[in-house]
Amino acid sequence: MIRIFTVLGARPQFIKASALSSALAEHGDTISETIIHSGQHYDENMSEVFFKQLRLTKPKFTLQQNVHSGHASMTGNMMSDLEGIFNTEKPDLVLVYGDTNTTLAASLAAVKVQIPVVHVEAGLRSNNMRMPEEINRIIVDRISALNLAPSEKAMNNLKSDGLIESSLLVGDIMHDVIKNFSNEARLSTKASLEVPDAVINKPFVFATCHRGETTDNQVLLTEFFKGLNLISKELPIVLPMHPRLKSVLAKHNGTIRVSPNVHMIDPLDFFSSIFLQKRAKVVLTDSGGIQKESFYLETPCVTFREETEWTETIDLGWNRLSQISSNELARNVFDALSSRGQIGNPYGRGDASKKIIDSLLNQGWINQFK
Ligand code: UD1
Repeated sequence: MIRIFTVLGARPQFIKASALSSALAEHGDTISETIIHSGQHYDENMSEVFFKQLRLTKPKFTLQQNVHSGHASMTGNMMSDLEGIFNTEKPDLVLVYGDTNTTLAASLAAVKVQIPVVHVEAGLRSNNMRMPEEINRIIVDRISALNLAPSEKAMNNLKSDGLIESSLLVGDIMHDVIKNFSNEARLSTKASLEVPDAVINKPFVFATCHRGETTDNQVLLTEFFKGLNLISKELPIVLPMHPRLKSVLAKHNGTIRVSPNVHMIDPLDFFSSIFLQKRAKVVLTDSGGIQKESFYLETPCVTFREETEWTETIDLGWNRLSQISSNELARNVFDALSSRGQIGNPYGRGDASKKIIDSLLNQGWINQFK
């Protein structure tokens, strides 16, 4: 029996884990999975709702220390709690997703007590070292025993870093999630109370904004909202607000003007988010996950960042980068309205979970750590 401990903490990780965890459960005679929740995302609508909706097994452990301070103390506090759990429970391996502080803390804590790490969504690079996520992914790839890559390009990045021996191309786990759940995508009762029918029954833009690079920079945040106000003269916008954006706007105390045609609502559950992305004319985002969700759902996307890790979505014509200036945001959204990309499968065919489990069971790599 292989005992896997999966450490989750942020909203996109609950979503990704839903695909692999349900596939792992079908191998209960050979693999057991235990979930640890780091506590990074803790609001009901950032955490609990995903466990319920995506039928994720409840965490056996939830970290108790305060993880809501700065990046370093968040990471350190998680690490010290995780070390205790790993030392007592002695799992065969620790599985992590993506590039968050939870990913980094779990990987470092595991290797410090000699437990191999499996990194799902390895090999992505923005080549922007100002992003906390870029630092996290470079370190986690380097210390993982097995790097599971979503694309050829991610494999090439791992190769350039000298990590090809520990790397395997499995495709994108988010593709599995979309395949598993896109038929269930509908507005939840809560979301339908917040999103006026009159808005979503006509063309609209679906927008999100959560990265500190934008929210914590007053000039950029002001430009972002000026851009939304411009766009909303033509098309209404639905903007579910990440807690970081909500708290920053509260601090600005009404000085950032938002047009009434920009509908700012609470964070959405997964089905509602997928439903609205599918129905929207254009998605406008700084999220990595949403760039790909909109790609799978075939809705054109505008990404307001200087670079993206998911360049294939741009190469295929579904996604474009925009500067955060009001005019550029509006121009890109209006250009995207009439655009359509090409169909392609740069991230596999939605069978990443199966490939990951095959690699754990059949490739014997785990024996070298026993
Ligand atoms: C984190 C990840 C980011 C990922 C994002 C998904 C890192 C470095 N960043 O960013 O890669 O794209 O999650 O959402 O790990 N907050 C709440 N309630 C919550 C969650 C957060 O109020 O349920 C507050 C936090 O206390 C903090 C702020 O929102 O003040 C930001 O949260 P944090 O976890 O630090 O980073 P994210 O922006 O969510």
